Amino acid sequence: MKLGRNDACWCGSGRKYKICHMNFDEKVRGYALQGHLVPDHDMIKTPVQIEGIRRAGEINTRILDYVEPYVKEGISTGEINRLLHEYTLKLGGIPAPLNYEGFSKSVCTSIDEVVCHGIPDDNRILKSGDIINIDATTIYEGFYGDASRMYCIGDVSEEKKRLVEVARECLELGFAEVKPYGFLGDIGYVINKHATEHGYTIVREIGGHGVGVDFHEDPWVSHIGTRGTDYLLVPGMTFTIEPMVNMGKADVVTDEQDGWTVRTKDGMPSAQWEYTLVVTETGAEILSR
Ligand code: MF3
Ligand code: CO
Ligand code: CO
Repeated sequence: MKLGRNDACWCGSGRKYKICHMNFDEKVRGYALQGHLVPDHDMIKTPVQIEGIRRAGEINTRILDYVEPYVKEGISTGEINRLLHEYTLKLGGIPAPLNYEGFSKSVCTSIDEVVCHGIPDDNRILKSGDIINIDATTIYEGFYGDASRMYCIGDVSEEKKRLVEVARECLELGFAEVKPYGFLGDIGYVINKHATEHGYTIVREIGGHGVGVDFHEDPWVSHIGTRGTDYLLVPGMTFTIEPMVNMGKADVVTDEQDGWTVRTKDGMPSAQWEYTLVVTETGAEILSR
């Protein structure tokens, strides 16, 4: 059914279509006619949804801030999980990983050659030289925020420190590409370029994702991309960027026993950082970091 000029806009603003998203829809249709992949309306969040995702993102950031000082030599990843779980409940949130498709813990903890989805374990104690990714996702008042950070434990080799640094630069460079009427492929393009220039590789099988109303939504965000391809970016899209940068080869394998832990095939270390963001009228805003 086609919206009339004076009907309420589909975006949930409460404004008339003709003074809200009517010109926008025209513009996007133009891109589609040129052969571009364009987001449909359900990939674009309403102002009310964006506010909710912003609050969930802020809570998620606070949770990562809270656990940060505990991420030191001698603590187990099981204990980090408990601390994060308790604090999430204290703030009125729900840890999204818990029971998500059978995941048994409240956070992902991925050390060294573990690329992502590492399962917290009381018997895995952080030791000097480890690099660890802590990936938290929080549901707050029905909305989702998702972010991850890396930590270097004790004395970490210069080689691994560099990997962690470059992975962070990859995320920042990818984020800097996000603007309305840019393309999703621009993000992965700069990420893969930067990693390659440092002799690293980017994991292909796992990407970022739409997030906010659900844990994993469309679009899927490749971290190796081609400029000017993939979805057109428009204001109101919320998604993650979360490049996994490998020191060795790009290939990964999932643990057959636990069904979750993703490792590099060659056993070399991997690093990852993640933001949740929203595309704005002028660029992008980080909603969780
Ligand atoms: N937080 C992860 C992501 O960035 C997903 C973890 S799924 C889980 O998409 F079940 F392992 F928690
Ligand atoms: Co995450
Ligand atoms: Co994510």
